[in-house]
Amino acid sequence: MYPELNGTVAVVTGGSRGIGAATARAFAAEGARVAVIGRDEEALGRVAKEIGGTGVPADVTDLAAIEAARRRIEAELGPAGVLCAFAGGGIARPGPTAAMSEEEWRSVVDGNLTATFLTLKTFLPGMQQRKAGSIITMSSSAGRLPTNLPGGGGREMGNPWGAPVAYEAAKAGVQALTRHVAAEAGADGVRANCLAPGTVRTERTERFMPREIQEAVAAGHPLARLGEAGDVASAALFLASAQSAWLTGLTLDIAGGRVML
Ligand SMILES: NC(=O)c1ccc[n+]([C@@H]2O[C@H](COP(=O)([O-])OP(=O)(O)OC[C@H]3O[C@@H](n4cnc5c(N)ncnc54)[C@H](OP(=O)(O)O)[C@@H]3O)[C@@H](O)[C@H]2O)c1
Repeated sequence: MYPELNGTVAVVTGGSRGIGAATARAFAAEGARVAVIGRDEEALGRVAKEIGGTGVPADVTDLAAIEAARRRIEAELGPAGVLCAFAGGGIARPGPTAAMSEEEWRSVVDGNLTATFLTLKTFLPGMQQRKAGSIITMSSSAGRLPTNLPGGGGREMGNPWGAPVAYEAAKAGVQALTRHVAAEAGADGVRANCLAPGTVRTERTERFMPREIQEAVAAGHPLARLGEAGDVASAALFLASAQSAWLTGLTLDIAGGRVML
């Protein structure tokens, strides 16, 4: 679909499973040379083998580890033309804001916002020097609208507290970080855009969301279904391609019409 992606080096953090793995497959199908980053070496190996890419184990909350991953990718594949900073982690239980522990807050902010910052910090200078690059970051509908509002998704999930506040704040932060980088690096030929998916069916959501809850959440979307990892991957391809050459600083809601801003 996008011949210009043929031969491009695409780095996907969080590429060992879920949305990241689907995105890695989509870039590989376009002929990109793909490196997937995650912590689970076995899962990385499976994805890398399937797509004929490279699996690079690294914890993206650790700057030295990401730097080492970048050096290895540059040596094995060449410099990144596309960076999908999709890894997201951290542990916090849903509940009232004041009940969230400091440890939970830091774990989720670290696992999403700080991880994205460290990933961009590592790959951005090379892209600026080369005067080319497309960066795509990963927010969430939870960073667009409060999930604890009536109709905000929390109640449909059987949880009136919605997503943990740290997750909403971290994912909103990813949007701001992306806009800042877009403004800073545009003159260097580097674009930065952000994806904000609603609930996407992945192994994890299949495991943790019973069928009836999936159906209730799906019914809250104008397009009356949950997202698929491929919906997100398609948007990532477009934002990496020359077809989006004049788009930067954008947050794209991939949410079946649930979020219209
Ligand atoms: N699924 C949804 O409904 C949904 C909706 C909106 C946004 N999102 C966002 O989309 C992204 C992917 O979600 P998903 O549902 O596909 O999640 P997932 O299946 O849980 O996958 C998370 C990915 O992130 C990686 N990761 C997490 N922490 C990491 C760390 N510290 N270092 C390196 N890799 C790390 C994991 O790698 P390892 O397991 O190998 O460590 C895994 O590849 C996340 O940022 C998530 O917040 C998901």
